[in-house]
Formats: sequence, structure tokens, C-alpha cells
Amino acid sequence: MIQLENVTKVLSGRTILSNLSVTIEEGETLVLLGRSGTGKSVTLRHIVGLMQPDSGRVEVLGKSLTETSTDQLAAVRSQVGYLFQDGALLNWLSIAENVALPLLETHKLAKSEVDQRVKDALREVELDQHGDKLPGEISGGMRKRAGLARALVSHPKIVLHDEPTSGLDPISSSIINKLVNRLKTTGITQVLVTHDMNSAFEVADRIALLHEGQIHALENVDDFRDSADPAVRQFLEGQISGPLSRGLLDGSSND
Ligand SMILES: Nc1ncnc2c1ncn2[C@@H]1O[C@H](COP(=O)(O)OP(=O)(O)OP(=O)(O)O)[C@@H](O)[C@H]1O
Ligand SMILES: [Mg+2]
Repeated sequence: MIQLENVTKVLSGRTILSNLSVTIEEGETLVLLGRSGTGKSVTLRHIVGLMQPDSGRVEVLGKSLTETSTDQLAAVRSQVGYLFQDGALLNWLSIAENVALPLLETHKLAKSEVDQRVKDALREVELDQHGDKLPGEISGGMRKRAGLARALVSHPKIVLHDEPTSGLDPISSSIINKLVNRLKTTGITQVLVTHDMNSAFEVADRIALLHEGQIHALENVDDFRDSADPAVRQFLEGQISGPLSRGLLDGSSND
């Protein structure tokens, strides 16, 4: 379904991903953890084709994104919903117009079909009453949900969530977790980046820890929770010292 093979990416002279390999199976929800700045968002950007690796291969839905034409890339991208970390809503468009954007970019749908899909997506995230508002007129949590509606509106086979619950109150987080779990029952494949461990344990089939440019650990939920790996333990217990506290690849600290 999604395969990254020996992906290396250097950004501003720093090696962010270093021979990273991971396979995400059809229908699974994989949670990607890691310290801030380790390259989680960069990894998602490779899966949606917004970034190309310096070396290595990225395959999504049976198509290589690294050896493909622009048209093919657009075709794959139209099947991948991407919830940006910062919401990335356009401030001058209404919520409904923002949600419609992916349909206008890649799908040739009649206006009535676009309107219906936008309505359905907004209902899904409980924003049906707020489609006419501007992003600046709704709360941060609502903007997150609007971003999720935009990720779902094209009926994607894959949804990538970048910190869907960050900055949300516990109840709003539960609503998002419930939605992710509901999407799971539809057979959709999901990759979810989070620092919210409650959310991770609630939605994940498997959990991966990104460290030093690679998938350091990848386990099902119970094995991850019980892992004896020092880096996993440090992350789960939030210890200040441990393997995750060493400098990143270039030797500098990330603190
Ligand atoms: N377009 C870019 N140009 C240069 N450097 C970048 C670019 N995008 C990301 N980086 C750098 O790559 C590193 C990884 O960034 P990334 O956004 O993937 O981190 P992250 O794991 O998602 O962190 P966080 O948990 O804080 O969101 C960071 O040091 C960041 O500054
Ligand atoms: Mg990030």
C-alpha cells in the first residue's frame, strides 16, 4: 500500500531521513512517533509526493512516486488525503470553499456533486453549521476538524494525519480519535503523526518510532507499550536522558 525503501533526504545540509524503510499495509492505521524535528512531517510529505527523496524509492498504491510522470503523481495524490500540521486553511476562503479545494484541483465533478461532498465531509466532522464562516471566525479545534474534512472530501484510499489532536481539549481530541477509528472500519489506510500518547494507543494498529532518520522501532500497540528498547522507554516515560537525547545526525542537539 505504502512503501518507503531506503529513503534519504537532506534539507539545509542536514540529513533528516537516512535510508529509512517502512511498509504500511492496506487498511492499517500506523502511528508515527518521534521527537520534534526528527522528520515525521517530512516523511508524510514524501508519501503524498510533496517531497522527493534524494535517494531511495517511495511507492504508494502500487505506483512509484519517484519514477513517475506528473500526471501519474497527480492521480495518486488525488487518492491521498493530507491533514496538514498547521491546518493550512486559506484565510480568505470560507470553510466550505477550503474543504472543496482538493475536488476543484484534481477531480472533474459537477458543482452539485462538489457541494454534496463538501456537505457530507463537514457533517462528518460536525461542522455542518459553519461552512460559511472564514477560518479566522472559528476556534483552533474547529480549524483542525475543517482540515480533516478537506482531507476526506475526495474519498481517499489513504489519509495522512499530521498531529490531528495537538492543541485540542480532551473532548475534542476524543472526537478526532473516534473519527479516525470510524475511518478504520471503512478499510482506509492511515498514517497518523502525534505527540498525544492517549490518541496513539487509542487509534493505532502499529506504532513506529522515528529516530536518527530511521524507523527505530515498529511494533503492534501492546508490544510497543511493553517494549524494553531504551529509546521507546525514554519516549513513553518522557525521561530527559537516554538515547533520544543525543544530538541528531549532524551531532547538534535539537533542544
Ligand atoms: N522545506 C524544508 N527546508 C529545510 N528544512 C526543512 C524543511 N522541512 C523540514 N525541514 C527540517 O527538517 C527537520 C524535520 O522537520 P519535520 O517538520 O519533519 O519535523 P517533525 O518530526 O514533524 O517535528 P514536529 O514534531 O516539531 O512537527 C527539521 O529540522 C526541519 O527544520
Ligand atoms: Mg511535524
